[in-house]
Amino acid sequence: MRGACACAVVCALVALCACAGLDESTRAAAERQLLSLLGLPRRPPPRRAPALVPRAMRLLYDRSALPAAAANTARSFYHTPTHLDDRFPGEHRFRLFFNVSGVPTDEVVRGADVTFQRAVGPTGKQRLLLYDVVRPGRRGKSEPILRLIDSVPLRPAEGTVRADASGAARRWLREPRDNHGLLVRVLEESANGTDALYPHVRVRRRATDEHEEWQALQPLLMLYTEDSRAREARERGETRLVRSKRAAPHKRARAHHRRKEAREMCQRRPLFVDFADVGWSDWIVAPHGYDAYYCQGDCPFPLADHLNGTNHAIVQTLVNSVNPAAVPKACCVPTQLSSISMLYMDEKNNVVLKNYQDMMVVGCGCR
Ligand SMILES: *[C@@H]1O[C@H](CO)[C@@H](O)[C@H](O)[C@H]1NC(C)=O
Ligand SMILES: *[C@@H]1O[C@H](CO)[C@@H](O)[C@H](O)[C@H]1NC(C)=O
Ligand SMILES: *[C@@H]1O[C@H](CO)[C@@H](O)[C@H](O)[C@H]1NC(C)=O
Repeated sequence: MRGACACAVVCALVALCACAGLDESTRAAAERQLLSLLGLPRRPPPRRAPALVPRAMRLLYDRSALPAAAANTARSFYHTPTHLDDRFPGEHRFRLFFNVSGVPTDEVVRGADVTFQRAVGPTGKQRLLLYDVVRPGRRGKSEPILRLIDSVPLRPAEGTVRADASGAARRWLREPRDNHGLLVRVLEESANGTDALYPHVRVRRRATDEHEEWQALQPLLMLYTEDSRAREARERGETRLVRSKRAAPHKRARAHHRRKEAREMCQRRPLFVDFADVGWSDWIVAPHGYDAYYCQGDCPFPLADHLNGTNHAIVQTLVNSVNPAAVPKACCVPTQLSSISMLYMDEKNNVVLKNYQDMMVVGCGCR
């Protein structure tokens, strides 16, 4: 009964959890279906080392928010070092290359920014300029074509500087072969117009930087996208529900705590999906699991108001009460669902934060 009625995602999770005792092909089919619902072509490989989640990403996850409107996915990228890096020996002019080639083609850019860290040092009135390298220059032949995409005044007290890169990111996803990176320049804004260099916005690694130190200081591209599944849902006018706080595992409710007399009526029941049970804790960074809930119970005649029935369900229940052989009773199904956020590493070891809609039952009803 539940299998036919519950929503697809929750149902697939239930199947995966419940099928520990089932044969491998059934389990594989359940896993495939679930991965496809999550928009993943295959199961990402297990993490080799503990996941290094950028601080900005962890904050987003903890706040349970994506800053760009309509985005349901956030991805983070670090600069990929190339031989071109040697052409930028200075501290305040550097080309950053972010390899976004792994972003699925159904995803549309809703926002992108590059964050820079400032190390302690003298403070001055500075400005950071960010350019999209539309065409690289060729030595002695042509000048590069640069398009200024953001210009950010730097205030002395700020530790983190954020520049908008959405103009470039949109172009890269549209024309993947023309991603020539971003050019960053940090200028001293002085009355006399000279560009004095101050060594405290960190754009490139110094030989003395330890790996961990640089990990925290290096520029980070955050890309906010909307995938086709989320776009279709939005265009269908499905309302975005307020994301509920992820419940901690200790709040997990156990089936045997259910009271007998409450079992009959259609209502929300506890169901905690533990990703370790599904065998997914090696690629999902957080959460460890979540409260999915499910709907179960009877939809008896006459249908009570609190059972959230539609007019149709009321009629169907009525017909069933007169002639049970003609139609079944209305079905106890989720009538309101909410989303959860998941943090995971993709195949290229980039950290991805995705908001999945309709993962958690908020209310049940007879339909
Ligand atoms: C970007 O990543 C893809 C996939 O990992 C790789 O094939 C490609 O060579 C990379 N591009 C550059 C310019 O590093
Ligand atoms: C221009 O301003 C900078 C920074 O304020 C200063 O160091 C430099 O001496 C000035 N140059 C001239 C020619 O005044
Ligand atoms: C009916 O829906 C509301 C709002 O979604 C929910 O609070 C309530 O628990 C639902 N009723 C049942 C029986 O689940």
